[in-house]
Amino acid sequence: MRLPFVAFPAALCLMAPIAAQDKVDFQRQILPILERNCVECHAAAHTSSDGRLVKPKGGVMFDSKDGLLNGKKGKVVVARKPADSLLYLSISLPADDEDRMPPQKKGDPLPEAQQQLIKKWIEQGADFGPWKGKGDDDKRPDPKAGDGGGDKNKQPATGDRSKPQPKATLAAIRTSLQKGLNPVPAATLAAFAEGPFQVASIGDDSPLLRVSCHGHTDKVDDRAVASLSTIADHITELQLGRTSVGDAACSVLAQMSRLTALDLRQTQVGNQGAAALSACKQLRSLNLFGTRVGDYALAALAELPNLEAVYLWQTEVSAQAAVRLREALPGLRLVMTADLPEPMTEGTGQRRNRR
Ligand code: HEC
Repeated sequence: MRLPFVAFPAALCLMAPIAAQDKVDFQRQILPILERNCVECHAAAHTSSDGRLVKPKGGVMFDSKDGLLNGKKGKVVVARKPADSLLYLSISLPADDEDRMPPQKKGDPLPEAQQQLIKKWIEQGADFGPWKGKGDDDKRPDPKAGDGGGDKNKQPATGDRSKPQPKATLAAIRTSLQKGLNPVPAATLAAFAEGPFQVASIGDDSPLLRVSCHGHTDKVDDRAVASLSTIADHITELQLGRTSVGDAACSVLAQMSRLTALDLRQTQVGNQGAAALSACKQLRSLNLFGTRVGDYALAALAELPNLEAVYLWQTEVSAQAAVRLREALPGLRLVMTADLPEPMTEGTGQRRNRR
């Protein structure tokens, strides 16, 4: 049986009674609203799974405490002053106002109860609790580097020297991963020319490899993945989405000690396979959309210290397991929903926001 996943993030906060004396808990009540409705457009500049650089809209970022406090255009959150906080102002504009967030083309305004919750959180002092979010562990040598201000003569997206900060971070990760790693011998690589995989360096003569199978997904099964074991040490990005791989393939994936991004969407992978991935300690992005994974797998993923994003919609993962995983890995981006209309928000069940 599938849980009504779509309803989870909003439901989780709205089922909690908003009594006057209750202190709003940012991580449990506010963050899920932002993640569900805003972060898609307002995350720190990052490289998408297909390699594009994605910048935050309007210079506003909701995936870190830093971003929430300091927008490019002004204070996103001013403690105790919702009327001065762009966050609250933007969501409480009239539905047909063109500056209203989320934008009209994205759908209706946030439900009144969510708006009030955000307002109340700001009024209570905008306490983030222990949450810092993404980016706080990163070094930020130049906070301006990300928005292109001041280096007009350089190309932010492609220039090598003035790469936006998150890209630099990715570059730094790769530099450290490839340290001391010899390139795969040409003969070994040549063996893949015939098969279903596209195997290529991630660029700049790096020995690290990106492997995909566009156009040949129907030919990729567990046996095909087994053939990757000769280059397992070198693979850092692997796209196996929509192939017929299952749990057996995951034991090969588990050997990939430098794997940072793995796409297994719409495959037969289930709990056992996904749990085996806890061996891939460098894993940052994991797409399990439309797989058979459930709570058991999720518990194992808590052992991945570098995990930044997990895509879980259309799986059997329960809301509770998702919450536990995020507690284990603060700042983790858990994508549980497709881009669907606002779910019903009336709390009918007995479930409460446990503290
Ligand atoms: C579909 C993409 C999208 C989504 C989803 C979205 N925004 Fe925006 N947001 C934008 C764009 C585009 C701008 C920049 C508008 C501009 O610069 O004129 C923006 C600007 C902002 C600003 C700055 C406003 C200002 O006065 O400069 C705030 C605050 C903001 N958004 C809050 C939110 C909140 C809160 C949510 C979730 C409830 C949200 N946004 C969801 C696209 C989005």
